[in-house]
Amino acid sequence: MRRGTIRLFHLSDIHFGLEDGRALDWARQCIANERPHAAIITGDLTMRARHHEFRAACDWIKALDVPVTVEVGNHDIPYFNLYERFFDPYKRFKAIERMVESQLDLPGLAVVPLRTTTRAQYQRFPWSNGWVTEKALAECLAAIDRHPVGTRILVAAHHPLTERRERDGKLLTINGTRTMEVLAKCRVMAVLSGHIHDPFDLVAETAAGPLRMIGAGTLSRRIRSTPPSFNEIVIDGDDLRVEARNLAHVATPDMQIDQVPENALPPRLPGEPVAPIGTVPPVDPPVH
Ligand SMILES: [Fe+2]
Ligand SMILES: [Fe+2]
Repeated sequence: MRRGTIRLFHLSDIHFGLEDGRALDWARQCIANERPHAAIITGDLTMRARHHEFRAACDWIKALDVPVTVEVGNHDIPYFNLYERFFDPYKRFKAIERMVESQLDLPGLAVVPLRTTTRAQYQRFPWSNGWVTEKALAECLAAIDRHPVGTRILVAAHHPLTERRERDGKLLTINGTRTMEVLAKCRVMAVLSGHIHDPFDLVAETAAGPLRMIGAGTLSRRIRSTPPSFNEIVIDGDDLRVEARNLAHVATPDMQIDQVPENALPPRLPGEPVAPIGTVPPVDPPVH
């Protein structure tokens, strides 16, 4: 099996409806000029899953002339139309349906989707944080198992898998701890996620060993504590390097936060993770 260098662009949270046109133009140009092996878009394509937001997001994604996988974010299933939310939640992805939760097979490396967005959660409300259901985990593990031993595996999800917030133990992704343990046992190279709007590159210690967790920032105007960015990921043998590329030319270590926060909202309390650059917007971004 060939195990050559693979270059991936990991984009997330493009949030059409509150998109950053300049950042999106730049990212699209980078993809067109540099032609990575693939683009991985870890969810939140829209703000409120409105039809016009989806049309714009799907047009933008379809124009990318490289293989693409798209994960589903909590902003991407119908918000106002409850019938559709429960009975046909992916209907609005029609124009890009072949990319949604699709697996990418590259030389010696596979990107396997893991669904973390659910239509409802009996455990709590609201339902914006993640839940790895038994079915979603089983599908991911089955997809991993279908690859020959030695294939490098990346898992792509919308929500980071951290189950509890470090500060106070608040529940974030339900079933995250067990999922991370199982993925570490499978020797998954890294889990790629979005949802946070700040980039990170952390190693979680699980009962089955370490697991790399990589988050991409946002390409929207819904900023948490870093300017719009995407991750360039270069995999060479068993080595994986991440660069958080951004138009503000901030160095990658200054873009990355050192623990996983609850969500994309700018930090407002002491002790909440903030990137070293510290550019926290004075007011919270609108959700519409
Ligand atoms: Fe988001
Ligand atoms: Fe999200």
